[in-house]
Amino acid sequence: MPYGLRTFYCPSGSGQTGRMADQYAQSGEAVRPPDVAAVSAHPSIPAIRWDDPPEGPVLVLLDQTRLPGEESELVCTDPPGLVQAIRTLAVRGAPLLGIAGAYGVALAAARGFDVDEAADALAGARPTAVNLAYGARRAQAAHRKAVAGGADRRQAAASVLAVARALHKEDAEASARMAVHGLALLDELMPGGGHRVLTHCNTGALVSGGEGTAFAVALAAHRKGRLRRLWVDETRPLLQGARLTAYEAARSGMPYTLLTDNAAGSLFAAGEVDAVLIGADRIAADGSVANKVGSYPLAVLARYHHVPFIVVAPVTTVDPDTPDGAAIEVEQRASHEVTEVTVPFVSAAGAEVGGGIPVAPLGTQAYNPAFDVTPPELVTAVVTEEGVVSPVTTEGLAELCARSRQVTIS
Ligand code: MRU
Repeated sequence: MPYGLRTFYCPSGSGQTGRMADQYAQSGEAVRPPDVAAVSAHPSIPAIRWDDPPEGPVLVLLDQTRLPGEESELVCTDPPGLVQAIRTLAVRGAPLLGIAGAYGVALAAARGFDVDEAADALAGARPTAVNLAYGARRAQAAHRKAVAGGADRRQAAASVLAVARALHKEDAEASARMAVHGLALLDELMPGGGHRVLTHCNTGALVSGGEGTAFAVALAAHRKGRLRRLWVDETRPLLQGARLTAYEAARSGMPYTLLTDNAAGSLFAAGEVDAVLIGADRIAADGSVANKVGSYPLAVLARYHHVPFIVVAPVTTVDPDTPDGAAIEVEQRASHEVTEVTVPFVSAAGAEVGGGIPVAPLGTQAYNPAFDVTPPELVTAVVTEEGVVSPVTTEGLAELCARSRQVTIS
């Protein structure tokens, strides 16, 4: 069947349209499936978009659960629909969650929902990525301020939307600056280029208003001809590396190789990794880094093999109100994400529990934390849009946050 635009129907309040994704567009592979090649000219859908009337007000998401098999739009018309999209990871990754949280409050204001209730629901939809609560609360504060200043409903909604748009733009700018700082650091640590970088989870344009965090650094290196290889951890259980990072690397024409998470050790042992670049969902005041589960073992491996472990995140991911790693709430997710394999874009009509293919005996309980916490002593540097903190200390991070606040206020 030829691939083209498709229309899907989602739970109430949302609609979905889609087309086959072009993950093979610039993969550099000698062979690419002919059926996918047929749609290579389609532009990609932005990770998030606000549509005004007459289509809106709606928030349009690129449904990341269907990648790389299909690029499809998920249209959120109300805050509960967006909360569900966040919980199911249709929209995901710390910076993008912040943007989504802010637009979600704007959607509530524009459509006459209770704004405080919506902000609470959005801020609590996932607990670890601090950006989500940051975006929702910042938008909520704008609404309160507008109402206190005598704005009517329409004016208050417009102020919230302006804040969401500002956050979106700020994140794009932060992404570009992180790429500059991150590449400068890579070049300093490994003069001569030819960087072989290992990354985990997904940190590119799919999680950002711009080109991402850690991935944006690798992309900048690639554009300067200084990336020899991007090693992409598949990132069990939901395969953000295999499904999303490989998709973004292929589209960007980067030299990349996918590996299972448990192959990382032998890759380090073979001397094939020059640096680890990852993002973060929350950085505590002491520099402890919460990121996708599997990041901490990489940090331990990196230390043993004398390889720099670099965290790239916007200042909004640094949370001065969380004192240390032990205080970070780590999201625990459902067992079925581990006990079943879900193939993107294959609907398992009539299947039970999570709808995937069982790979463990029925009733198996799984330990499924979405994130783990890396202590600051294992982190070589934290790269932000305001600069690099290394060594990673409470004082260094506090100074960075103070500098960022000065920039924001002035
Ligand atoms: O559960 P996810 O897919 O939202 O987890 C995302 C990650 O762990 C990313 O690495 C993190 O948000 C940093 S993105 C810049």
